[in-house]
Amino acid sequence: MKIGVVHGPNLNLLGKREPEMYGSATLGNVDEALVALGRELGAQVVSFQSNGEGALVDHVQQTAASVDGFLVNAGAYTHTSVALRDALIGVQRPFVEVHLSNVFAREPFRHHSYLGDRAIGLVAGFGIDSYLLALRALVSHLRRGRGDESAGSSIQS
Ligand code: DQA
Repeated sequence: MKIGVVHGPNLNLLGKREPEMYGSATLGNVDEALVALGRELGAQVVSFQSNGEGALVDHVQQTAASVDGFLVNAGAYTHTSVALRDALIGVQRPFVEVHLSNVFAREPFRHHSYLGDRAIGLVAGFGIDSYLLALRALVSHLRRGRGDESAGSSIQS
């Protein structure tokens, strides 16, 4: 199983950017933790970050055929990008929307997502754990789709 992680604009600044909001982990830390958890879960995790909307659309289009699903933290494009929404719908791959912060506890313009209604689920507000919880949930979802009845047990203690 292979999972593509898509990080949008300004997430390259993680660790330095508003640490009180986004925490002290760097994007490298996030990606390392995802690879390590992926290994535990039996999933290969490949990450990509761009500040450009077009680059994110190109990446989704170009990699969709080689992945089973995506984790998407589109950053500010979550709230603005019809193009990224169309790309994710167009490639027909399940995806989970991820946010480090609880976007619903922030400014009203962050309450709307162009992705959320087409995502299989949303994880927000847990910092780096948002990505890790989302990876567990996506892998379970994909395994269930393959008829593995024990899928989901990894999220229980
Ligand atoms: C974010 C939330 C967005 O509203 C914001 O523009 C970001 C980060 C998050 O992970 O909490 O860049 O996606």
